[in-house]
Order: sequence, then structure tokens, then C-alpha cells
Amino acid sequence: MGNPSQANRDGRPGEPAGARVGPGGSVGGVSRFYVTTPIYYVNAEPHLGHAYTTIVGDALTRWHRLMGDDVKFLTGTDEHGLKIQQAAEAAGTTPQAFTDEIAPKFRAAWERLNIAHDDFIRTTEPRHRTAVVELLQRCYDAGDIELDTYSGWYCVGCEAYYTDDELIEVDGVGNHCPIHRRPVEHFEEENYFFRLSRFEDRLLDWYAAHPDAIKPSHRANEALGLIKSGLRDFSVSRTTVDWGIHLPWDDRHVAYVWFDALTNYLSAVGFGDDTQDYTEWWPVDYHLIGKDIIRFHCVYWPAMLMSAGVEPPKGYGVGGWLLVGGEKMSKSGGNAVNPLDLVDDIGVDGFRYYVLAETPYGSDGDFTYDGLVARYNADLANNLGNLAARVATVVAKKCDGVGPAPRPDSPLAEAAASAVAGTTAAWDDVAPSKALDATWSLIRATNSHLEANEPWKADPGPEVDAVMGDALEALRIVSILAYPAVPETSQTIWERIGLDGDVVDQRVPDAVAWGGYPGGVPVVKGDPLFPRIKA
Ligand code: MSP
Repeated sequence: MGNPSQANRDGRPGEPAGARVGPGGSVGGVSRFYVTTPIYYVNAEPHLGHAYTTIVGDALTRWHRLMGDDVKFLTGTDEHGLKIQQAAEAAGTTPQAFTDEIAPKFRAAWERLNIAHDDFIRTTEPRHRTAVVELLQRCYDAGDIELDTYSGWYCVGCEAYYTDDELIEVDGVGNHCPIHRRPVEHFEEENYFFRLSRFEDRLLDWYAAHPDAIKPSHRANEALGLIKSGLRDFSVSRTTVDWGIHLPWDDRHVAYVWFDALTNYLSAVGFGDDTQDYTEWWPVDYHLIGKDIIRFHCVYWPAMLMSAGVEPPKGYGVGGWLLVGGEKMSKSGGNAVNPLDLVDDIGVDGFRYYVLAETPYGSDGDFTYDGLVARYNADLANNLGNLAARVATVVAKKCDGVGPAPRPDSPLAEAAASAVAGTTAAWDDVAPSKALDATWSLIRATNSHLEANEPWKADPGPEVDAVMGDALEALRIVSILAYPAVPETSQTIWERIGLDGDVVDQRVPDAVAWGGYPGGVPVVKGDPLFPRIKA
């Protein structure tokens, strides 16, 4: 459990010593903030599409750590079900051996991308089985799981059933999955069903009472549309799949992989474990998901929880897809981009920044290598990198390498205050691209301030000191605001402008109030932060 090595590297604060923990998401007055990514199928190695949601989660939780919240960021792997069973068979191995081989590749990818998750859950772990069995039993005892016969179409890629009218034609042939565009299979078997149809009104009432639960709002409309179009019961067990968790009351059946997978969010906070109180972290603040799994998360999941007497999630952040040439990037599509290859070219922070800034969260984005390089050169090399280098060069030449203090009434103070307000509001709204745009507005304003004053042309003296003190203070504030996206760069700038300690230990909003740069400290230039890349 946990991720202590990353906790150390990031200087992340641990549990407050002797803190009083109470239900309802707060510890001795400190807010708790629990965020999850989807757990990724281990039939494929991690690709850019997976990295996308994970980086958004990492940045969002880093922001909340800066806000002083007690954060739990969970990711992991989805290891049961037919899809994994078939992938293992194709690889000529057992599902357990297969998943044991792939799951560490996700951990390694997240390590490389500087993802500071607090926990990594695998659905093959005993703690997960405990939670799934508890949730199934609660829904069964509530009378919401019943035996029936199912006959219909199944897509193994989605691990989901489809009705005739949901299927599409591909190349003139019918019965294809609308997501994977591959033929579906016909299944007929005795299944246990979750009586989702009973939850329509309760779900609509819940969403009416929590209108901002799903972000961005156009994705909320999609979820409501699914509920309003009528809810069908769904099968929660299979007798033809063996790789999974057996139902506690009927051992012939294995839990449906989505019932199993969704429960991971509760397993990680100790649901079903008598020695833990899962309500210390539950309900979760945000499930970050891709738009293709809205139905499972925003419809099935809260209904399952309502049935079991557990509170629904507080919120969902729904992202679009990263497309390659207009198609969803995926292993089955054969167009997966390995994020680690890109990091080799562009650096971890360059890659993280691109993923967060390029596509408004909730919309689809087209991934191109040229787009990546253009964004890197414009925002990182020319803007942030150039500002840091310029400030250090002028301070070296005109201020003897010692950073002057900022002016309390600096013309940049207003730009800083509005960058702080915009960045804060956007992170609150789970809108990373807007948050970074607000942060970068201060970088742009500071570059303009320097160009307007041209301190490099002036003689050393109080005027140059004033301009450079203001620029250094802006850079100090930028390094805190930009930290969720580019943590290593932020720390480097922090040190180069002569500041002690770690950015991770700064607390917003106090630390981003104008005037914190002490002055009288050494400023060093160092290597270029973001060398320009030739397109
Ligand atoms: N195992 C399920 C999730 C269970 S959560 C209880 C699953 N796994 S997945 O690996 O196929 O996809 C996980 C997430 O990655 C989904 O949210 C999906 O939208 C996202 N992405 C996969 N490919 C993607 C892109 N090309 N672009 C953006 N996100 C994409 O579904």
C-alpha cells in the first residue's frame, strides 16, 4: 500500500501528528480531498490516453496539497474479467502471471511521469476482494440483485452489453460495437441482475440536488440524458468467466468486471474492513474519468452505492479523448503513443505541461508531434524559460547577482492577484488548461513589464532594482502557481532565485500574496530550463 518513496521525494506532508480524524472528510480542521483515476486495464501497456487522466489527477491533487488539504490520490489497475482472461490466453500464460507482469509497467510509467499518487490499487489484491464481497452482499440483501436470464450482445473490449439499436454497421456489416467498431458476441446465460431500473428517480433527484457534480457541464448533460432515456437492469455476474471474484451467496457466478472494478474506489479506503472507517475519506471528491465510461461511473455506480446504503461520489471530472488522426488512441486501434518516448524528447515537465495545457478538459484533443513541439516552444521555451533566463542575466549584470526586493505598489501586483484568482478558480473547476492560462498570464505580464522598462539598457541603480525585484517576485509566485503542472521546474526556479525550502511546502493563498520575495538573496542563471526544440 501507499507510495512512500514518492512521498519522500515530493516532500509531501504526511498525516498531521496526533490529528483528530472525524467522519465527513475533515481532520482537525484540515479538509480532506480524495481523487481517483480510472483503474486501467492491463491488457495493454500504458499509453498517452492513460497518462492523460493520470496527469490531470496528479496536477489537481498537487494543487490541493498547496491549498493545505489532506490529499489522497488513488490510481491502479483493473485486472479481472474476460478481456484480461483472453489477453492472458493469447499470451500463453495465466491471468495472474499476466497481470503481475503488466501492472508494474503502469507503476513505472507513473514514476517516470512524476505522478505522486498516494495509493496504487490492483483488483487482484485481498483488500479489494473484501470490499467487492461486502458491496455485493449489501446490494443483494437490499433486494436489488436478482437472478434472471440474459440473452444479448456483448463487447469484450468494453466489457459491456449492447442492445440491437446501439450497434453500428462497419463496412456494410451490422452488429459492431459503437466504440471499438469490432463485431460483438452473442451471449445467453443465467445472470444475476442489478435492478438499475428502480433507481431512475433517485438518481435524477440526486443530480437535481447536486447540479455541479459533473464537470464540465456538457458532460453532465450526457449523464442525465442516459438516465432520462430509461435505465435497464444490468447483469452483475457471469458463469462463463472464471477470472474474478465469486459471488458470496452463489459460488457458480463470478462478479461482472465493472461491478468489481468500480468498487476499487471504496477498497482503497477500507470499505468492508472492520479495522478501518471508510467514511474518513468517503464520499470521494472527484472521480476523474474519460467520456467513454460516464455510464458506468455516473449512472451504475451511484445507484449501486445507494442500494448499499453508501453515499454517492461528490463529483466527477470527465475528460475527452486524445485522438490521433481523428481516432481515439488505443491499443486495439494500433495508434497508441507511448508517453515515455515523448518524455525522452521533451522532458517530464514539458510533457506534463502539454497534456494539461493543450486540450480543455472535457473536450477531445488531437495529438500531433508538431503540436507538442509548438506548444513547448511557445509557452515553455519562449515564455517561462526565457523569463527565468532573462531575469537571472540582468540581475547578474546590473545587481551584482543579488535579487532586489519587490515594490509593494508594483504595477505587476495586480497582474499577480488576477493570475492567482484565475488559477484558483480554474483548479476548483477541474479546468487545468484554464488554470495554466491564468498562471501564464503573469509570465506574459512580467515579460511585457521587462520589455517596457528595458532594464538591460539602464545603468545599475534603484530603478533597475525596482523592476528586477518586481520580476523576481512574479517569478516566485509563478513557481508556486505552476507547480502542479511542472513540479521539477518550479523547484529549480525557486532555488535559482535564492529561495529556501520547497515549493511543495508553500501554502496558497498566503504564499502567493504579493511581496513575499525577501530580496538580498543570490540569483543564479543555470542551464536553460527548456531548450528550444527544432520542429
Ligand atoms: N478498466 C476500465 C476503467 C475502470 S474504472 C473503475 C477502463 N480501462 S481503460 O484502460 O480502457 O481506460 C481507462 C481510461 O483511460 C478511460 O477513462 C478512458 O477514457 C481513458 N482513455 C483510454 N484511451 C484514451 C484516449 N485515447 N484519450 C483519453 N483518454 C483515454 O476503461
